[in-house]
Amino acid sequence: MSAALPFPLAEDADEISLEKGRLLFARGADFVKGVVAMDGLPPADRLEICFAGRSNVGKSSLINALTGRKNLARASNTPGRTQEINFFTLGESHYVVDLPGYGYAEAPVAVVEKWQKLLKAYLSGRVSLRRAFVLIDTRHGIKAVDDEIMTLLDQSAVTFQVVMTKADKVKEAERNKILAQVRKALSKHPAAYPELLMTSSEKGLGIENLRALIAGLA
Ligand code: GTP
Ligand code: MG
Repeated sequence: MSAALPFPLAEDADEISLEKGRLLFARGADFVKGVVAMDGLPPADRLEICFAGRSNVGKSSLINALTGRKNLARASNTPGRTQEINFFTLGESHYVVDLPGYGYAEAPVAVVEKWQKLLKAYLSGRVSLRRAFVLIDTRHGIKAVDDEIMTLLDQSAVTFQVVMTKADKVKEAERNKILAQVRKALSKHPAAYPELLMTSSEKGLGIENLRALIAGLA
């Protein structure tokens, strides 16, 4: 066995990959449906990626930035805004899935439990799920609830890739400190894809690269 993976930041995509990413997202994104129970999932008939992460980490904002549609996914200052599993199409070839946030303590317990159950069922049981992007706030790093979701993904053999969000909110020294924490935590997760992405939906940082990466999953 090799030592713990270093989890470098992904290198910038080359021109051809960037163009593929641009074209994929230029096909047009559309809202399909919000799902509240496993039997409501659309048929698993195309490549699917999802965005998971703690409440308020920036999942919906990242989908809006990727698709270039300001209000496609509902983003909000109110944590717990996304309460269903929201499916979006990318052309005819992909589903992009916005998940309800986890780790939100303010919502009623019964409601939280319902989302968490659905979230876990989805993450562990969706055959067409090609990669889960687990978003981590660059100010906060990996928390216990993230670790729990990552363990579930390990157990379900779903490859997940960490996307750092809100990079615009932290200075470089702080960023490096958090990255070290993230790398250490990820070294315990066999399903973690060994590259990280740094993004800011606000500033557009890392968005083209992420589009290219998603196009490359085909
Ligand atoms: P839930 O659906 O509640 O789980 O939240 P979410 O993960 O979808 O987060 P959302 O995209 O709604 O963003 C939460 C807040 O963070 C909003 O006020 C966004 O404007 C803000 N935000 C998201 N991304 C960024 C970013 O890159 N930079 C900054 N500065 N703020 C961001
Ligand atoms: Mg959301």
